[in-house]
Amino acid sequence: MAQRVALVNNKGGVGKTTTTVRLAEALAKTGKRVLVVDMDPQGNASRRLGWAYNPDDAKATISEAIQADRPGAVASVVQPIGWDVEYASRIILAPARLELENRMSEAGVVGAWRRLAKGLEGADDHVDYTLIDCPPSLFHLTQLALAAADSVVIVTEPEYDSAEAAGRVRDFIAQRAVELANPDLELAGVIVNGMQNLGSHADQLAYIRETFGGLVWDPVVRHRSLIVDADGDEVPLSEVRGDKASEVRATYELLAQTMVKAVPTR
Ligand SMILES: Nc1ncnc2c1ncn2[C@@H]1O[C@H](COP(=O)(O)OP(=O)(O)OP(=O)(O)O)[C@@H](O)[C@H]1O
Ligand SMILES: [Mg+2]
Repeated sequence: MAQRVALVNNKGGVGKTTTTVRLAEALAKTGKRVLVVDMDPQGNASRRLGWAYNPDDAKATISEAIQADRPGAVASVVQPIGWDVEYASRIILAPARLELENRMSEAGVVGAWRRLAKGLEGADDHVDYTLIDCPPSLFHLTQLALAAADSVVIVTEPEYDSAEAAGRVRDFIAQRAVELANPDLELAGVIVNGMQNLGSHADQLAYIRETFGGLVWDPVVRHRSLIVDADGDEVPLSEVRGDKASEVRATYELLAQTMVKAVPTR
């Protein structure tokens, strides 16, 4: 059975999707099997994993699986990723496209918030981790993820608004997990992303450590332009070159180790 982890922040652009994709990659490299569920209508995780929607060979996405409101429905939308590396076979994807926005208007339908949890039932038994990439919101699409997840990992930049939004996520889980019928949902970690040699970043990192204590995972991810390039080019980190390439790969490999310790496979 999979350990389901939702990657969340109320603030946009802090690196939720980068972290989801690179943790999936690092976990797969160590032999773990990973399902990435793209819960963001922007579909950034899907694209960065090399997936593209082809209208001439239309494949169903996570939106249709949620709409189906049926146990195990996610299994019917899972697809291989597009990367050309050996470990890519251990990453599978429930992709998203803009169509997922249409599930938002159904937020008030009875039981709507349970539909991802239901759709994943039995659909991720054969993987070690299900990583759910959330949109920058705490509304319905993220609530679907929170109702389905075993644990939450907050991704934050060492910046004021992002760190404050991370606190909102923690409070939201504490206040709403019971209402989402998921009282055991736990905040498993906080990943700090995009660290630069700035006084303000050092201050905010100290604030984040003070606020979240031992929940802050090591290592902190530094701001590196090759991460943008790899995301833009839809390639695995094993294909990037440059003097920081091995540092970036090592960072995510270490983070994946931290994750395996904090949220062990079942
Ligand atoms: N450590 C990093 N160093 C440099 N660039 C980064 C880093 N992490 C992420 N980025 C880049 O920053 C941009 C935003 O990252 P990303 O899309 O992962 O954020 P997000 O939180 O998922 O955004 P959204 O809220 O829109 O879903 C992307 O271009 C990504 O490649
Ligand atoms: Mg994103």
